[in-house]
Amino acid sequence: MRSVPGNVVLVGFMGAGKSACGRLLARRLGRCFVETDDMIVSRDGRPIPEIFLQDGEEAFRRLETEAVEALALKSDDVVATGGGLPCREGRMEALRAVGTVVWLRGDLAELLARARRTGQRPMLDGRSAAELDALYRAREPFYARAHLTVDTAGQGIDQVVARILAALRDTHAARV
Ligand code: S3P
Repeated sequence: MRSVPGNVVLVGFMGAGKSACGRLLARRLGRCFVETDDMIVSRDGRPIPEIFLQDGEEAFRRLETEAVEALALKSDDVVATGGGLPCREGRMEALRAVGTVVWLRGDLAELLARARRTGQRPMLDGRSAAELDALYRAREPFYARAHLTVDTAGQGIDQVVARILAALRDTHAARV
């Protein structure tokens, strides 16, 4: 879609489908796909669970800051961010400055089930249902600062990508 200027940045909780939808969205738009988690891993050399285990969450969040800074060099990519990346002061503003930010909003039970099925996620380890609910609630106001919100509850990857494309088309058509 030539009419969508700049990067498209996907945000949302763990299990929202940022990677799977981002990859397909990039293909549909004919763009490169990048993930902030991959940027961190290739720069640091360790897998994310190891960074959390050895250095702690704060160290990982500092690496995220570097990844956000590096995004400024990207121009027409689709970017999937880690679930906690937007949830610090200034981060959403930095993301909004590099492109159109899309929140993949979902139903928490569904998000958690998907997150547990795919990959290791240190933020889920040892947290009770109440703690995960609190984490989600604390993060929502950050995600809500996205330019666009796409509901993913009960939707498959194809449907979500179709919704993202429609939302992008509408928002950018409205601006020209
Ligand atoms: C995290 C989410 C992960 C990854 C890290 C921390 C979080 O990414 O960045 O484990 O704080 O929510 P996904 O959202 O892709 O699972």
